[in-house]
Amino acid sequence: MKLDNSVALVTGANRGIGKSFVHALLAAGAKKVYAAARSLDTLAGVGIDPRIVAVKLDVTREDDFRDLAATASDVTLLVNNAGVLDFGSVLEAQLQAFERNFATNFYGVLASSRTFAPIIEKNGGGAIVNMHTVLALASMPGFGVYNASKAAAWSLTQSLRAGLASRGVAVHAVFPGPVDTEMLKGVPVPKTSPDDVAKAVLQGVSRGDEDIFPDPMSASLYQAWRNDHKAVEKQFAAM
Ligand SMILES: NC(=O)c1ccc[n+]([C@@H]2O[C@H](COP(=O)([O-])OP(=O)(O)OC[C@H]3O[C@@H](n4cnc5c(N)ncnc54)[C@H](OP(=O)(O)O)[C@@H]3O)[C@@H](O)[C@H]2O)c1
Repeated sequence: MKLDNSVALVTGANRGIGKSFVHALLAAGAKKVYAAARSLDTLAGVGIDPRIVAVKLDVTREDDFRDLAATASDVTLLVNNAGVLDFGSVLEAQLQAFERNFATNFYGVLASSRTFAPIIEKNGGGAIVNMHTVLALASMPGFGVYNASKAAAWSLTQSLRAGLASRGVAVHAVFPGPVDTEMLKGVPVPKTSPDDVAKAVLQGVSRGDEDIFPDPMSASLYQAWRNDHKAVEKQFAAM
């Protein structure tokens, strides 16, 4: 998709990769970016630009989607970025942790895509970008709750892609490795900057890449997974 003159909506735009998406979209020529956050107050730090429109969206709230569909009726590119991460293994984590991760990482993406796919189609076509993780390909047990929600969202992306192909809406899956944001604060691994990830994702969208591995770690992990997915599963299981 051509990003020049696009009208984008970014969920979870107040910080982390979402905030980087807002600026990368403007740099790529978007004519308007709806920066969506659970609380409008948190969007103050995103910056001042006449092309940024602050909007309220908690992706777990149906009424927020209803209101936003009326306001943001010119969207051509949806970035489903909002996400939460609860650490914990599937054998020990509280069920509430599963509910919280699925509410945002799976049902949030579902509600957002169902709301905006018809709007994008009506506006002449465009794209949906869903932020997954390399852990959707193979699970690390300590991230079991989060991984399950992201793997389910990856399956959702494939179904959306098939369903929307003939309606002019491309659906992109993004599988980042570790990124330097609040989400992985305190986890001592090499991380990519959120600005670099956002830029690489938009380059992938411009090229029409369906599946995007936006950093060196995820790109090499993808090659290893293609060569021998069982070896990657065993490697992650031991971490
Ligand atoms: N960081 C990584 O290493 C990494 C790696 C792979 C994939 N990802 C994915 O990339 C995306 C962005 O992550 P990040 O690293 O930027 O995380 P982050 O810094 O923790 O930011 C998460 C964003 O999601 C928002 N959010 C959470 N629940 C929401 C809800 N119910 N409704 C609307 N917004 C909500 C947060 O808003 P509040 O400020 O209101 O909480 C915040 O803006 C996520 O989907 C994440 O899973 C991240």
